[in-house]
Amino acid sequence: MTAPLLELRHVGKTYAGGGLLSRRKVSAVKDVSFTLAAETPEVFAIIGESGSGKSSLARMVLGMGTATEGQVLFRGQDLARLRGRAARLDFMRQVQPIFQNPFEAFNPLTRVDRYLYATARNLAGADGQPAAEAAADRALQQVGLSLDELRGRFPHELSGGQLQRAAIARALIPGPALLVADEPVSMIDASLRMTIVNLFRELRDRLQVSILYITHDLATAYTISDRIVIMRQGEVVEAGDARAVLAHPTHPYSIQLKDSVLSVEGAWQEEGTRP
Ligand SMILES: Nc1ncnc2c1ncn2[C@@H]1O[C@H](COP(=O)(O)OP(=O)(O)OP(=O)(O)O)[C@@H](O)[C@H]1O
Ligand SMILES: [Mg+2]
Repeated sequence: MTAPLLELRHVGKTYAGGGLLSRRKVSAVKDVSFTLAAETPEVFAIIGESGSGKSSLARMVLGMGTATEGQVLFRGQDLARLRGRAARLDFMRQVQPIFQNPFEAFNPLTRVDRYLYATARNLAGADGQPAAEAAADRALQQVGLSLDELRGRFPHELSGGQLQRAAIARALIPGPALLVADEPVSMIDASLRMTIVNLFRELRDRLQVSILYITHDLATAYTISDRIVIMRQGEVVEAGDARAVLAHPTHPYSIQLKDSVLSVEGAWQEEGTRP
């Protein structure tokens, strides 16, 4: 039997918040469990309001901060026990982040194409400039860009939407099995959000990559996700197939969210623009 791609077992995260002398602790994530199968790539959304623990969860999945309770396993390997350079490098290749602010993903003083070449050399074994350029171009084509469009340009010379696409391309270069996208479109112009969000579904199908899509926006998550979990104050209050959860929400918070989705859907139907 193959191990799941990702498995969270009763995961918790407690921060020793409140400054040096304070004993106050912040329980950001409480007893979260879910599994992403290795065989079937999916878009898995984690939805919740600000402060519900989404980014804390994302960081643990990315191996940036360990769980204080429970375990995070990637392909059966407990991330708290990941040892050695080779194992860490392999994990980095397979699990790639996409952040909210694409300007933070790039060095402002480095040309975007050069940054992609460096990723190709460091994480995808590209040997020599032609191989690095080919890897960068391949990844850029997957997100609807091309190397010719980006060559020689600095991050500030691209639009936010272009730069976020380039950040997604950078994440694709190592050939990951899982993308962890934490609010990837909340800083993108509203008119471009749906095209970027839909890109995740296309990547799932074309590249067989799973996507952990983190958002506060249930309406968008619903349209692109296979499964969703809804978090409130660090806990999962609802989980399952996106359509099933929305058809029968049980927690008051999800019912409230559902109403917000229905109003968006109503607007879509009126405009005839539902994706
Ligand atoms: N490094 C930290 N030290 C102390 N407390 C933290 C730390 N990071 C997050 N927290 C706290 O943990 C809780 C969850 O934060 P988190 O950033 O995970 O929420 P979020 O769902 O991502 O919110 P947002 O939608 O605003 O990004 C919050 O109460 C936050 O203040
Ligand atoms: Mg966050």
